[in-house]
Amino acid sequence: MKLDGSTAFITGGASGLGAASATLLAEAGAKVALLDRDMALAQALAKQLHGVAVECDVANHESLSAAVAQACETIGPPRIAINFAGIDVSRKITSRSQGAHPIESLQRQIDINVIGTLDACALFAERMMDLEPFEDGERGVLINIASGAAFNGPPGQSAYAASKRAVAGATLPLARDLAPYGIRVMTIAPGFFKTPLAETVDAKHTDKLISLVPFPKRWGDPKELGELVKHICQNRMLNGETIQIDGAMR
Ligand SMILES: NC(=O)c1ccc[n+]([C@@H]2O[C@H](COP(=O)([O-])OP(=O)(O)OC[C@H]3O[C@@H](n4cnc5c(N)ncnc54)[C@H](O)[C@@H]3O)[C@@H](O)[C@H]2O)c1
Repeated sequence: MKLDGSTAFITGGASGLGAASATLLAEAGAKVALLDRDMALAQALAKQLHGVAVECDVANHESLSAAVAQACETIGPPRIAINFAGIDVSRKITSRSQGAHPIESLQRQIDINVIGTLDACALFAERMMDLEPFEDGERGVLINIASGAAFNGPPGQSAYAASKRAVAGATLPLARDLAPYGIRVMTIAPGFFKTPLAETVDAKHTDKLISLVPFPKRWGDPKELGELVKHICQNRMLNGETIQIDGAMR
């Protein structure tokens, strides 16, 4: 996939890892659409990147569907689509001090992280299928975001880890579903990256975990993840796989 002149739709593109990837893709010549529920952040970044900001809640089918239609009308169908939108509500499944994890936040994590990701794949791929293929038959690439927690989840992250394992698990069947149309599907499972989401996790907890990262023993820079996104877009042999980017933390 050539980045220059391509179109990239990025859910959760207003902040953190999504914003860093959007910035690198735009710097490489891609036209970006940031699909996010935080319009203030999305509009500010879109302006900077000469892209577009589209309001959406990925867990709401009507909202996501309307956002995809609007982004297609504005910059054309996506060649690249990346699902960063996600939440993490850290809390033990039950404990004497806090009681049972409320059903609402268990459900919300599954709705956004799993259903939001799969629904976005369906809607993005539907648009990609209509694009003219490149000479080797490639039409586009979808990238989903799981987490190291999918494979090695710490306490307090049962719902988050389950949701991210679901995203990783969907990778191969998605790639097989979409291969006939020349659409690749990859998943990235990040370790610890310094973003607003990471800052919501108890610092004592994350500092201890960072000290366990073999090398490099530090937070990941969101740009390092953005470089992996660019590589996945450009390397056509990458398909149906989940890549952990975590300094060997697992
Ligand atoms: N930061 C890390 O260390 C880390 C590690 C592993 C996985 N991840 C995953 O990477 C992704 C991005 O995380 P981040 O750290 O950049 O977080 P972030 O909070 O900085 O960014 C998430 C973005 O998603 C948007 N969003 C959330 N729910 C949404 C919804 N329902 N509809 C539309 N937009 C929504 C937010 O407005 C925000 O712009 C998430 O899926 C997260 O689980 C992050």
